[in-house]
Amino acid sequence: MMNLALKLVGWIDQRFPLVSTVKAHVTEYYAPKNFNFWYFFGSLALMVLVIQIVSGIFLTMNYKPDALSAFASVEYIMRDVQWGWLLRYIHSTGASMFFVVIYLHMFRGLMYGSYRNPRELLWIIGMILYLALMAEAFMGYLLPWGQMSFWGAQVIINLFSSVPIIGPDLAILIRGDYVVSDITLNRFFALHVIAIPLVLVLIVVAHLVALHHVGSNNPDGIDIKKHKDASGNPLDGIPFHPYYTIKDSLGAAGFLIVFCSILFFAPDMGGYFLEYNNFVPANSMKTPEHIAPVWYFTPYYAILRAVPPMFGSQFPGVVAMGVATVIFFFLPWLDRGNVRSIRYRGPIYKTFLALFVISFIGLGWLGLMPATPTYTAISRVLAVIYFAFFLLMPWYTRIDKCKPEPDRVTFK
Ligand code: HEM
Repeated sequence: MMNLALKLVGWIDQRFPLVSTVKAHVTEYYAPKNFNFWYFFGSLALMVLVIQIVSGIFLTMNYKPDALSAFASVEYIMRDVQWGWLLRYIHSTGASMFFVVIYLHMFRGLMYGSYRNPRELLWIIGMILYLALMAEAFMGYLLPWGQMSFWGAQVIINLFSSVPIIGPDLAILIRGDYVVSDITLNRFFALHVIAIPLVLVLIVVAHLVALHHVGSNNPDGIDIKKHKDASGNPLDGIPFHPYYTIKDSLGAAGFLIVFCSILFFAPDMGGYFLEYNNFVPANSMKTPEHIAPVWYFTPYYAILRAVPPMFGSQFPGVVAMGVATVIFFFLPWLDRGNVRSIRYRGPIYKTFLALFVISFIGLGWLGLMPATPTYTAISRVLAVIYFAFFLLMPWYTRIDKCKPEPDRVTFK
């Protein structure tokens, strides 16, 4: 049996670089030995991507992208299709958990300076993934054709019409109509089900190719390639397989416990993962009293609302919201510190990072609340802190007193 398997591998290897690829990327790919909890989230993001694609394929078998039957087809999936409720809840819980995982993955990058030389492109590819993920989630949210689907899309697409000169045409281009309609639903379906997932998968491959080209950073933020053994392998590195395949399995098991607890006991997560108003069919004649995007967009939504309109146009808020997202792209060049990891940074960076996290979570909460004068005032303060983290970075990272980095990774 073993002989047959070896023969088969040999046969494939003469025609396809199977063994050398597995060696280069798995069994002989050396990763730093000091990975901690924060290094689980890349493989978890990969796992959630697969969960979303597989559950999405099965949902598509019974979903109808048609304004007259979309809502009913989702109810049909929930009530009549065998295991349909499970598929739908896996997909809706997966959407929110994808963002939980990605936000933690990005925060790890901030803490350990993973965006810095030589990983700038890896970070930029990650940011493109993040933007694609936002588009994917936004378009998917229209598909159940509930009140929040409809009005959320209406509000967000209308923002594009505030762009000077091209705005109104741009909004019509996105909708395919003068209002959100069946046409919009059809094109969002096409983009959500095939175009963006395809792009996501391709960019994830590019993300991993870039990662393996430069090698992983680690919690100490130091280069493990400086010290190599006689065969050229880093002394502080261990082969990805079996060490990290085992460790990542533990992360996956922990994640699945959390995922299944939400899925089986609180699939709507108190209205945060599935909003209550979305259990009401879309009605273009009845605007809901309170429209808020899903939680993962609310920090940006709060920034949008924090900026006062100018000459009756919301454009300044739209610009602020756009800048708040794309500013992450520039991190590799904004950071002028001598060290990568938070472990060896001084108190100023740590304070700014803590303030940034408070502002991001605070804005996320405020984006879910009605825009009362008090809440708007708090949003403005938090938005200033949010932007200060980035814009003052060249200054505070330079004056911050860093501690000396160790020569070898710290591993207990
Ligand atoms: C679908 C989304 C994504 C997937 C599947 C994904 C996957 C991965 C995987 C498997 C790793 C290696 C394991 C790890 O270091 O945790 C990784 C590393 C990394 N990712 Fe992502 N990622 C995604 C999105 C992002 C985003 C949005 C960013 C940032 C904007 C990002 C930035 C990075 C960086 C900087 C590293 C290297 C970190 C280090 O070595 O310290 N990724 N990613």
